[in-house]
Amino acid sequence: MQIAIESPIDMHLHLRDNAMLRLAAPLSAETFAGAVVMPNLLPPVTDAAAMEAYARRIGAACGPDFRPWMTLFLKDQGERELLAARSFSNFFGLKLYPAGVTTNSGGGVLRFDRIGRTLAVMQEMGVPLLVHGESRGFVMDREREFLAVYRSLAEQYPGLTISMEHITTAAALRLLDEYENLVATVTLQHLLFTLDDLAGGLLRPELFCKPVVKRPEDREALCEAALNGHPRLMFGSDSAPHPRSNKECLGCAAGVFTAPFALQRLAGLFAEAGRLENLQAFVSGNARCIYGFAPPVKRVVLTDVPFHIPALYRGFGESVVPMGAGEWIPWSVSAPLPGASACG
Ligand code: DOR
Ligand code: ZN
Repeated sequence: MQIAIESPIDMHLHLRDNAMLRLAAPLSAETFAGAVVMPNLLPPVTDAAAMEAYARRIGAACGPDFRPWMTLFLKDQGERELLAARSFSNFFGLKLYPAGVTTNSGGGVLRFDRIGRTLAVMQEMGVPLLVHGESRGFVMDREREFLAVYRSLAEQYPGLTISMEHITTAAALRLLDEYENLVATVTLQHLLFTLDDLAGGLLRPELFCKPVVKRPEDREALCEAALNGHPRLMFGSDSAPHPRSNKECLGCAAGVFTAPFALQRLAGLFAEAGRLENLQAFVSGNARCIYGFAPPVKRVVLTDVPFHIPALYRGFGESVVPMGAGEWIPWSVSAPLPGASACG
């Protein structure tokens, strides 16, 4: 069996910087035509100049055929800052991180009542808001507790497109259906795994991310929505490479690395459910409809020939353990892909 996907887009991607950028970015560019790039570098990308410079470094790492839609880390940017950002054609939106809830989010938002001016300007200019929606509560309840914030933002700013990033629960899906200005992304790991996979047996650091994978009924609800082609649910891998030494240690960093085979793994998931016809919308069509994206033309042919996930991706002095390291997955890209050296 084969399926051709036109211009797949990853709606939520961490590309990092320096050596890790050079390792990770080309691996995304092999199968994706573009991606929405997260701004949580150290220091975070908060202004137009830093964003343009970062986009240039991404371009240098993966060439002109991969389009990075760039985001700014939301602080208290005003009209002047947003106008400057908007003059850059690859600018996409602002990412709101509640302070301290995830990797490199220390400079995020402490009080939601203090960002009204920025949100009002965004609404006026038609700039989307992307949100890491977690409270500081009990780890399994953080997304559910944050839903009240989403609700109040959706009501206060009805003209603002608000993306609930990497949703993990059935409750978030229900909220998505309540407000027309909410959209959402979902990752591969949250479609495939639950807390049992991460911590029910031997701990699997390569599956640890924020928000953590949840309960079986949450995973099932997310799968049903994705597989049935929910028009406001988009694929965002949240692929987030960390050096192996920061994952397999005391104090495992949050982040799951899936970019090199995310599309292949999704094809397996959709094929198994008999829903391959909905994959195009999930990985590209919905984003094009919602945001009017015009990604570079790229046709990726996927086939049900097994693919072996390397134990390690290595290059430029970095090494990253991918999700499902060393396992076989049922689908691959039909033409062999060039890329970084992979071991295993
Ligand atoms: O697991 C995560 N890793 N969640 C995030 O929100 C950030 C990401 C990262 O940057 O590593
Ligand atoms: Zn992320």
